[in-house]
Amino acid sequence: MCGIVGYVGNRPALPILLEGLRRLEYRGYDSAGVAVVNHRLQVVKSQGRVEQLERLVASQGLEGRSGIGHTRWATHGAPSDHNAHPHTDCSGRFAVVHNGILDNFAELRKELEARGHRFRSDTDTEVVAHLLEEAWRGDLAAALREVTRRLRGSWALACVCTDQPDTLALARQDSPLVIGVGDGQYVAGSDVTPVLATTRRVLYLDNGEVARIDLRGVTIWDARGEVVGRSPVEVAWDASAAEKGSFDHFMMKEIYEQPQAVRQTLAGRVDPAAGSVDLSGAGLSPDRLRSFERIQIVACGTAWHAGLVGRRLIEAWARLPVQVDVASEFRYGEPLVDGRTLTVAISQSGETADTLAAVREARRLGSPVLGIVNVEGSSLAREADWVLTTKAGPEVAVPSTKAYLTQVVALHLLALALSRVERPEEGRMLLQLPQRIEQTLAMEPRVRELARQLAGQSHLFYIGRGLDYAVAMEGALKLKEISYIHAEAYAAGELKHGTLALIEPGRTVVALATQEALRTKTVGNMVEVKARGGRVVAVTPDRPDARKEVEVAADALLALPDAPEGLLPVLAAVPLQMLAYFAAVERGCDVDRPRNLAKSVTVE
Ligand code: F6R
Repeated sequence: MCGIVGYVGNRPALPILLEGLRRLEYRGYDSAGVAVVNHRLQVVKSQGRVEQLERLVASQGLEGRSGIGHTRWATHGAPSDHNAHPHTDCSGRFAVVHNGILDNFAELRKELEARGHRFRSDTDTEVVAHLLEEAWRGDLAAALREVTRRLRGSWALACVCTDQPDTLALARQDSPLVIGVGDGQYVAGSDVTPVLATTRRVLYLDNGEVARIDLRGVTIWDARGEVVGRSPVEVAWDASAAEKGSFDHFMMKEIYEQPQAVRQTLAGRVDPAAGSVDLSGAGLSPDRLRSFERIQIVACGTAWHAGLVGRRLIEAWARLPVQVDVASEFRYGEPLVDGRTLTVAISQSGETADTLAAVREARRLGSPVLGIVNVEGSSLAREADWVLTTKAGPEVAVPSTKAYLTQVVALHLLALALSRVERPEEGRMLLQLPQRIEQTLAMEPRVRELARQLAGQSHLFYIGRGLDYAVAMEGALKLKEISYIHAEAYAAGELKHGTLALIEPGRTVVALATQEALRTKTVGNMVEVKARGGRVVAVTPDRPDARKEVEVAADALLALPDAPEGLLPVLAAVPLQMLAYFAAVERGCDVDRPRNLAKSVTVE
């Protein structure tokens, strides 16, 4: 949802801003722009991707040691050159980049126009540049503090001004902002990825805060105007984790990082000998955990799908009732949560607006919140009562893969920790997962071949029962979001209650049959599909009994490595990710940056 970057320091700003934008491009890629200050404001921006911006600036020689940059996911105003950020005021002294939405921009714009300001864009952001011009008394940060008092909505703002060329002013309200504190230089960004090439020491801004960065350091003010003392913290990620390396796309690289991501997520949390789970690192004692009577899960998209897996596990192992809601529905529903309910919010970015709103609603109703979150220092990590971090490392591709798998693993851990009886076998079984995922990755050639056959289709169905159904939903989402092939997931037994009408000769159904107890039933549904001329791709373990039973009704097989049954649904997600990837590549789609999407959805 738009990425912003800023730089002040002893090096030329432009290369750092461009590199930062490349790393933030997953947040939006409708248009991009930079402003570099050198006694005058040099602004270059255009519709299109950062690559295009790089070509544009190459001929312009933008010089200066401070500046700001932006990569956009359009909200107010269509993607276009004039709506691209940075936006400037009438005098051309102030430039602003913004991530968020200003709810009262229309009335502010009307007021400003009445006072003679001329607007050049249709964006909400431009009002900030004009308001800065009016609030200017010689101090950029003071002007920004005054301006933010007039704003309603959400913002991460970075501003520069020609009269204070070595100063960057920042403000945050409900959109993330991180300041990297290097040696004589500072990089600000929507997340840590643009910062890592310079430093791993960061400061996170909180809601309502305004910061000034200049060569002397960082000063932060809270919403009441009081100076806040804050020391930088060290980020665990390193810069190379956000590089594509030898892979064609971040998505494939991230699929291949899953064994390691899962290994890190398990590390120190499962005792290999006793098979017991320890979540004390999340601050949750066993007694406190077991005091809850109900679990409420809230999340969006892929993270919601992980939650659906979690529900099955918690209900089976901890025997607690679990409700899983899409966060955008939860926040406007009439949720039945209270102090006896543990709300579990799942989010890779920790910045998804709907998930954060759901968390606030749950807490308002008295329910404590456990955040399962990948990005340390994110809003969810800071707002939740307890945090169970997934250790996936930076996930750059818009389609989530390794974050999903680590969320599923975190939910296994939670289900075991909530269980009132010891489940050593399940605990030890989890420790096999990294190696089993490695074996599953060897399915790549087979999946690629199948994806080629499927890439020409316009509709696909995914079916499964129990845990397989939850994983089927994720498989269908992956396919549609990156290959633009329409895909839907159904509980296998539900197909005959309507959707079977859509099965016609040649229509492909991907059927997950990883669970022995449910296999015969799922095979029954596969047979129903075949009887209508449909084509079935079955996902089942590579065991003679399973193959034999499934092959009767399957046109093609994706055989998972033989593994403990409890791990099979998790492993099944991997070929489904690859299937979506290769189908998208075959169709010439932009896998890492699918159309209309952005990675971190910080608007409703
Ligand atoms: C799909 C995908 C999205 C996210 C969703 C929530 O591949 O990545 O569906 O899962 O936008 O994002 P987070 O997990 O950051 O809250």
